[in-house]
Amino acid sequence: MFVSKALGVNEENHLTIGGMDCVELAKEYGTPLYVFDENEIRGNMRIYADNLKKHYGDNGLILYASKAFCCKKMYKIAKEEGLGIDVVSGGELYTAVSSGFPTEKIYFHGNNKTKDELILALNSGVGRIVVDNSFELNMLNDLAGEMGKKADILFRIKPGVDAHTHDFIKTGQIDSKFGVALENGEATEIIEEATKLSNVNLVGFHCHIGSQIFDLEPFLSTAEVMMGFIKEVKEKFGITISELNLGGGFGVRYVESDDPISYDKYMEAVSRKIHELSKKHNLPLPKILMEPGRSIVASAGITLYTVGNIKEIKDVRTYLSVDGGMGDNPRYILYNAEYDFEIANKAGDKKSETVTVAGKCCESGDLLGENVPLQKAQPGDILAVLTTGAYNYSMASNYNRIPKPAAIFVKDGTSKVVIKRETYADIMKNDA
Ligand code: LLP
Repeated sequence: MFVSKALGVNEENHLTIGGMDCVELAKEYGTPLYVFDENEIRGNMRIYADNLKKHYGDNGLILYASKAFCCKKMYKIAKEEGLGIDVVSGGELYTAVSSGFPTEKIYFHGNNKTKDELILALNSGVGRIVVDNSFELNMLNDLAGEMGKKADILFRIKPGVDAHTHDFIKTGQIDSKFGVALENGEATEIIEEATKLSNVNLVGFHCHIGSQIFDLEPFLSTAEVMMGFIKEVKEKFGITISELNLGGGFGVRYVESDDPISYDKYMEAVSRKIHELSKKHNLPLPKILMEPGRSIVASAGITLYTVGNIKEIKDVRTYLSVDGGMGDNPRYILYNAEYDFEIANKAGDKKSETVTVAGKCCESGDLLGENVPLQKAQPGDILAVLTTGAYNYSMASNYNRIPKPAAIFVKDGTSKVVIKRETYADIMKNDA
């Protein structure tokens, strides 16, 4: 009935997440509120880890792409589940290190890492730095030299594969700010450059073709292109590439019509392809890394709001306004992202109405969905937006000086705060 198996309806006709009553959670913690089912997160992590092992053996590692949702608790869970992580900024790296995440399993990404971020990465002893460009390569080599270190690096490669997704979240094509392209020789040039530098050690390649992808084919083409490049690099430079990071991007079900790839099938097909190509190109099997973000946390999260004003504009539409909006979920305004909506205190009722869900920001585009089906609502009801676990809290802002909501985790009948609700004082704390 729901897009995520973490959700259900209880005898009181209330929406549940991880078996807990959403109306009660809203009462206890206030709204807006992000609620995550911890077992769903751990379950998703295990699907990745187990299938990687099943199809590729021990020579692989799943990295949680923590940009999807980052906080101390997430890093603790990733650590407990034996995953590595992808961090993409000094802030994520700092949080991971402060949470006691094993630094050798941290992969540091970014298309414009600053000098301070690289120093932090070198000082923390991150496992790999994924180098984006020649400017960064030279800066890193100089810094590592000054600090008496040698950095293990991957290069971010644009494989030139079209990922069939929203333009803003496509990354593998030549016209992208990320990485070096294969087609125009940039990738070969940067490797040649690296061979002349003594404080970096080229271990592998990384690629990421985009996000919210539903087809298997672009992933397989990418694996093929990358294995071909590994062969070329061996022949040209005599370098054996031992790690291949295939990125993230696996689509999730936001609405009924979304049809994500089964990771079991994906991993089986990718593994087969890599085995075939290793044999054909006479290469050792590389260590495989994958970086799912969205598909680890999206289905585990929902956002609860209190319904305020309901404005019926005759012959136009009905605006149902909630106590949050683009500040806690900018994905509709950015990508026209689709969601499912439920009135949590009437979850089993038929969706007899069509409404436009509006936020409270001073901006007409501040919407969470347009013309969506919903149960008959009234002020004071609790509205749940489903599948908001990824790229919601992590993209939240304080526009209009609205405090960021709290995030709570539920697990086995208990709930606890993992990120506190911001106060007005929090918002003012850096004002001089
Ligand atoms: N690895 C790299 C290098 C990435 O850039 C990303 C996502 C991932 C892994 C994880 O991809 P995922 O498995 O989550 O699709 N804000 C957008 C999504 C941006 C994705 C950025 N990079 C959204 O809300 O849809």
